[in-house]
Amino acid sequence: MHIEFSATVPAESEITVQLLTRENRHRTAVPVPVAEFSGAANSLLLLHAEKRLYVGLGDSAKVTGDTVRRAGGTAAKFLQAKGRTRAAFELGDWAPQAQAAVEGAVLGTYRFDTFQPPKADDPPRSRLETLTFVAADVDGILVAGERGRLMAEATNFARQIGNQPGNRFFPETLAATAQTLADESGGVLTVEILDEAALQHNGFGGLLAVGGGSEHPPRLVVLWYCGGEIGEAPLAFVGKAITFDSGGLSIKPALGMEEMVWDKCGGMAVLGAMHGIAALKPRRNVVGVIASAENMTGPGAYRPGDIVTVYDGRQIEINNTDAEGRVVLADALGYARKDCGASAIVDLATLTGACVVALGDWAAGLWTTDDALKEKLLAAAERSGDRLWPMPLYPEYSEQIKSDVALIKNSSGRPGGACTAAAFLRTFVEDTPWAHLDIAGPSAITKDRADLARGATGFGVRALLEMVTSAD
Ligand code: BES
Ligand code: MN
Ligand code: ZN
Repeated sequence: MHIEFSATVPAESEITVQLLTRENRHRTAVPVPVAEFSGAANSLLLLHAEKRLYVGLGDSAKVTGDTVRRAGGTAAKFLQAKGRTRAAFELGDWAPQAQAAVEGAVLGTYRFDTFQPPKADDPPRSRLETLTFVAADVDGILVAGERGRLMAEATNFARQIGNQPGNRFFPETLAATAQTLADESGGVLTVEILDEAALQHNGFGGLLAVGGGSEHPPRLVVLWYCGGEIGEAPLAFVGKAITFDSGGLSIKPALGMEEMVWDKCGGMAVLGAMHGIAALKPRRNVVGVIASAENMTGPGAYRPGDIVTVYDGRQIEINNTDAEGRVVLADALGYARKDCGASAIVDLATLTGACVVALGDWAAGLWTTDDALKEKLLAAAERSGDRLWPMPLYPEYSEQIKSDVALIKNSSGRPGGACTAAAFLRTFVEDTPWAHLDIAGPSAITKDRADLARGATGFGVRALLEMVTSAD
């Protein structure tokens, strides 16, 4: 979709969208029939003859960037469903929220239809091709609007790969995707791929164990962006990318197993963030480390009771092969700390069902050892709409995962399941400032929302981008 900015509504535009709060829904060029439009958040009123679409923002006092983002998404998704190809968005008083409005619109029109036949339905499944954002002060919305476009496109990039099915996307496919991303960046990103032989040679026991049951061997994918001083320690983003999680020998129940195609979304958030970083070019060094494997039950599968030596030499006891994310992350965190010399590490993973039980689809859990990192992430979460909720790292969680036969075990039952997983990861970062985002809930949605299509959401991409592009 083309995003344009203008001081006036273009003549070819088929429809003009306006954002209205409950209180100011009367203040429109064309009067709004009050009985038909409450102004409630995400409510819509289409006036055919007048070629206007009104979108509600709810109570004025409660409007945030996220309200505008969702309203933008709702409007754009609706227009696309109605087969409109050109529309204008009159920002008016909402010009300061141009970034969120553009993000919402670009996110709202994405859908995963790669494998769907073109439908001869009514209305036709055409794409919204051009969306013009209109504000009296065009220069005022240009920079923020462009930034929103880049952030949302990076998010959609992560969604598109996140949505690829398990029979078409493997660790080697992920590696090839990262390679292409680096190639197309014209040298802005460089990539390093550790294949099975390199993983074996260098002792990545976690990735090799988890990937052992698959015909498609694991990969460690490392993407570098150097926008800072030479030698400046990088910020590291580390992602879990299990291309399909069957649970392995501790196999998952059949019901809902298909949702495990989204178990690569932590890694996709990192890939999406690197995509956005290449475009936004912050003045700092960032490295993305993605641990990718397929968790299957083939002859080489790892077993409950196995003792695995991970990259930093620590020994872990496997008592549940379905707690595989932390096992591959043990390798990746060790690599980020030792080989990349990270100044700080932020990891993202669809790590536990327990986190979904705690927070639902509406926020990711945030565990961190560093107050400055916490403040930066919470501020970035606020700006991006990628909600993060602080969770504890009590020493008792670390006690819970002590092993009788190794240093730690990879699962310890249901109580505090998301927190014991975080405690496990903490072992491998040692003193490096670190934050862990358990994105199991918000990384994908199983049903269409008014503002967002079903599937991978790209959660985390914009939070990471807000974080690396903020002033400090
Ligand atoms: N990928 C899952 C977690 C998950 C669950 C993500 C639901 C998204 C939605 C993870 O690998 C897993 O299976 N975790 C186990 C851990 C347990 C065995 C300690 C879980 O949450 O049940
Ligand atoms: Mn699992
Ligand atoms: Zn998993």
